[in-house]
Amino acid sequence: MSLSRALGLYIHWPYCARICPYCDFNVYRPKGAEDALLEAILDDMRGWRERTGARRLTSLHFGGGTPSLLSVSALQRLIDAAGRVWGFVDNPEIGLEANPNDSVVFVDYASVGINRLSVGVQSFDSGALERLGRDHSAAEAVAAVELAQRAVDQVSLDLIYAWHGQSLEYWQGELRQAVELGVGHVSPYQLTIESGTAFGKRAERGDRLALEPDDAADFYSATDEVLGQAGFQRYEISNHARNEAAQSTHNRLYWEGGDWIGIGPGAHGRLGAHSQSGRIATEAARRPGDYIDQVATTGWGVRSLETLSADDERTERVLMGMRLAAGLDLAQVADFTGLGIDEAECRRMAELGYVERDQTRLKLTREGQLLGDGVSMALIP
Ligand SMILES: C[S@@+](CC[C@H](N)C(=O)[O-])C[C@H]1O[C@@H](n2cnc3c(N)ncnc32)[C@H](O)[C@@H]1O
Ligand code: SF4
Repeated sequence: MSLSRALGLYIHWPYCARICPYCDFNVYRPKGAEDALLEAILDDMRGWRERTGARRLTSLHFGGGTPSLLSVSALQRLIDAAGRVWGFVDNPEIGLEANPNDSVVFVDYASVGINRLSVGVQSFDSGALERLGRDHSAAEAVAAVELAQRAVDQVSLDLIYAWHGQSLEYWQGELRQAVELGVGHVSPYQLTIESGTAFGKRAERGDRLALEPDDAADFYSATDEVLGQAGFQRYEISNHARNEAAQSTHNRLYWEGGDWIGIGPGAHGRLGAHSQSGRIATEAARRPGDYIDQVATTGWGVRSLETLSADDERTERVLMGMRLAAGLDLAQVADFTGLGIDEAECRRMAELGYVERDQTRLKLTREGQLLGDGVSMALIP
């Protein structure tokens, strides 16, 4: 089923017990404003309802930051409020990004409706975890995955690869460990050094923290091989699932160009399409204090709202859709934006072996995937 007309809700909980040195998400140490933020998020839902009209939610995703720092009763209030404000389709996905340190609360998650957990394992090597600045051991991460599997239907784990010192054989072993845990979904992320983070500053001083791009490409290919042999399919650049039921509905909605409400500090949202009454792009105030003030003064947390031009909407839809193994739905891009792709450039990319096209879809080949967004950008006139 295509999710291009579905509606998801993303709730950003920005607090983390400790800020990891590689992370450039919108994250903060808790400073006592958590209760006020929770109330602001609940008020923001009512503000958003006026803009979305009556539509039911296909998915609700708690991201962060570390939403597993929220109490189960706070999660219950948020899920119940989403149900009252919009309502859910049958069998919605209600997912949460969990830090292994918080695994003691997983047991209560199903009782409030959470049915999917993605656990931030990052590595099965305690030395690597220490170098990545994580505050849990490998054994604690494994125990957390096991608790998650007992608690909810779908469990995914996040791994970071291509850190300096990691061998290809070690990475293959980590992937096998992930498979042996019996999870249905694995998200392997290549370590990226982001400017402004602690790792970014160390890299500027000459510290080698990540592997060179050529080595990282070998890791990418090895990921497909190991997970493929275990019956997983890469359905998106960084996401592998054992079967369709294990895929993340909420993330697929982003890649397939659906609508989503973005609530919480710094959250982004998208609603509509150029061919309807335009596609709006929203961004909530980034800092928790500003977000709380924004909701109090305007009734919702959105600080910036723009209607995307057809060109900009096409760029987004092409970049997102090309990430999918199933490929970009060309008719849908034309239907939503009134625009096509650069046909001459598409033929050139096909000749170079970077894309493949059938009647309705355009997809990246393995060679194309290794070139990242460069190939997809070339398709935009
Ligand atoms: C927003 S975090 C939320 C997960 C949770 N807070 C945790 O850390 O366990 C989502 C995932 O992004 C990945 N990630 C964050 N920064 C990254 C970076 N610079 N390079 C690669 N992966 C990164 C990590 O795997 C992390 O689990
Ligand atoms: S990786 Fe997770 S725990 Fe670490 S700072 Fe980022 S969001 Fe917080």
